[in-house]
Amino acid sequence: MDRMVLRSPAKLNLFLQVVNRRPDGYHNLRTLFERIDLWDELAFRPNRSGRIRISCDHPQVPVGPKNLAYRAAKRLQDYYQIPHGVDIRIVKRIPVAAGLGGGSSNGATALLGLNRMWQLGLDRKALMAHGRALGSDVPFFLRDCSWAMGTDRGDRIRELTLPGPLWHVLVCPRLKMYSREVFTRLNLQLTKPGDNVNILIRSLKNRDICKAGQWLSNDLESSILQIRPQLFRVIERFRSLGLKGVAFSGSGPSVFGLCRSRQEAEQKKVILSKHYNQVFAVRTL
Ligand code: C5P
Repeated sequence: MDRMVLRSPAKLNLFLQVVNRRPDGYHNLRTLFERIDLWDELAFRPNRSGRIRISCDHPQVPVGPKNLAYRAAKRLQDYYQIPHGVDIRIVKRIPVAAGLGGGSSNGATALLGLNRMWQLGLDRKALMAHGRALGSDVPFFLRDCSWAMGTDRGDRIRELTLPGPLWHVLVCPRLKMYSREVFTRLNLQLTKPGDNVNILIRSLKNRDICKAGQWLSNDLESSILQIRPQLFRVIERFRSLGLKGVAFSGSGPSVFGLCRSRQEAEQKKVILSKHYNQVFAVRTL
């Protein structure tokens, strides 16, 4: 195989409940993932040097061992003793460290791409095991589904079928957030117990967008706002637009609103673009 180009999409967390802290330092989660039509592109080209070389058009993306596509390639190369190298060129469109899973998605896409390019014949179970070792959000991106529930670290995936697509308006403030810091600040006493994700899923199944909007939720919100209080303003601005549901995705800082239609998402995008740079109208992929 000479050259291969794959899309690497972003996700939103429509719901994120932190259940408890685990002995290994991670947290058990219940989260509802949605794949959205905002994606990076990864172009793979084999090389004979045996080296893994990453390049990216975005200056903030690391191209060495901190890059999850690099780590995925290195892991497969070492594990299966592959003598070949690979050049991976990343065209970055997903905002970096924004709560949209861009790095994790690139890691998953590298696993899928190299499984093909190096003809490893890995089945889903093997890919999921490598994905889990790379990061909590990677397994979701290995699945070919629009929605899924994630439990344990968010890495145990149960696919969901819902009527789609959903439309959202999304703002990605130019502030970097690091998941580790957000989780460290979390006050578990303040997180709400409950089974609200089932109400949300039922509302989405019934296409009751107004009701679904009321049940979007993210337990990391207070921790994100403690670290970046200026994000209150973004949330307030979303609320003032009459959006039914507003939430952070992942560990932030991206904020999204649930819309009733493409038209509504595009309209709100125009208004929000007067105040922010990175504004998108996105739909379920
Ligand atoms: O798994 P990943 O490398 O994406 O996680 C980044 C950081 O986020 C972890 O080091 C941990 O501090 C925090 N985290 C957590 N519980 C999870 C997922 C992430 O505490 N379920």
